[in-house]
Amino acid sequence: MIVLEQVSKRYRHRGADTDWFTAVAPLSLHIRAGEIFGLMGYSGAGKSTLLRLINLLERPDTGTVKVAGEELTALNAAGLRRARQHIGMVFQQFNLLANRTVADNVAFPLQVAGWTHHDIEARVAECLNIVGLADRAQHYPAQLSGGQKQRVGIARALAPSPKVILADEPTSALDPATTRSVLECLLDINQRFGVTIVIVTHEMSVIRRLCDRAALLHRGELLEVIDVKDNQIHAQSAIGQELVQED
Ligand SMILES: Nc1ncnc2c1ncn2[C@@H]1O[C@H](COP(=O)(O)OP(=O)(O)OP(=O)(O)O)[C@@H](O)[C@H]1O
Ligand SMILES: [Mg+2]
Repeated sequence: MIVLEQVSKRYRHRGADTDWFTAVAPLSLHIRAGEIFGLMGYSGAGKSTLLRLINLLERPDTGTVKVAGEELTALNAAGLRRARQHIGMVFQQFNLLANRTVADNVAFPLQVAGWTHHDIEARVAECLNIVGLADRAQHYPAQLSGGQKQRVGIARALAPSPKVILADEPTSALDPATTRSVLECLLDINQRFGVTIVIVTHEMSVIRRLCDRAALLHRGELLEVIDVKDNQIHAQSAIGQELVQED
């Protein structure tokens, strides 16, 4: 579903023309259809950068990105806008529009994609049902708990029926009980609709609970791809074992 070949990203240090910092070193990664795939590692490892390379929110300096058989790195702006409709995104801080109701937040990507009013209404109701928030449709984000806000974020990502959902630390702003309900929601969407999910987290418990496999990043390098079986993590690298132990 997602094929990254030798992608890399460097940033210029503030104010310096010659001083470059490698956020993601050239790496290749294949993520299967229907998989829940984790990106893990310490702060600054390059997890968020790598996630944003998948939908080209960050354009890679080298390499190619393919999603659902389409090479995103070869598309023009219009092609990329169209291709991104197959890729939903969920954010740590929810990124809801405060002056729109829950229903209107979920409707937003469908309006951008030019859906009819009638179709939008039906799809929004369906998605709010899926995340268990049908009774909150006319509320505003400020009236919701953190977990409810994130489920609105998930409903919004799901609305255009994406093949892939990218989630950057979707539970880091939440307490443990709420975290569980949001993880259940993601798992449910994966199992019912076969949506491939890539989730950034520094929490091993999230990897254990949710993921089929996970990539371990350290200082921009891909150390290993870890299998998660029966909620057990089998890390080979020293850093991987350290992360597992800290949990
Ligand atoms: N736009 C940018 N300009 C300059 N440097 C950046 C930019 N974005 C990220 N970086 C640097 O690239 C490195 C990787 O950042 P990234 O946000 O991908 O890490 P992360 O693994 O998501 O960390 P965290 O767990 O703290 O979110 C960091 O050292 C960061 O400071
Ligand atoms: Mg990050």
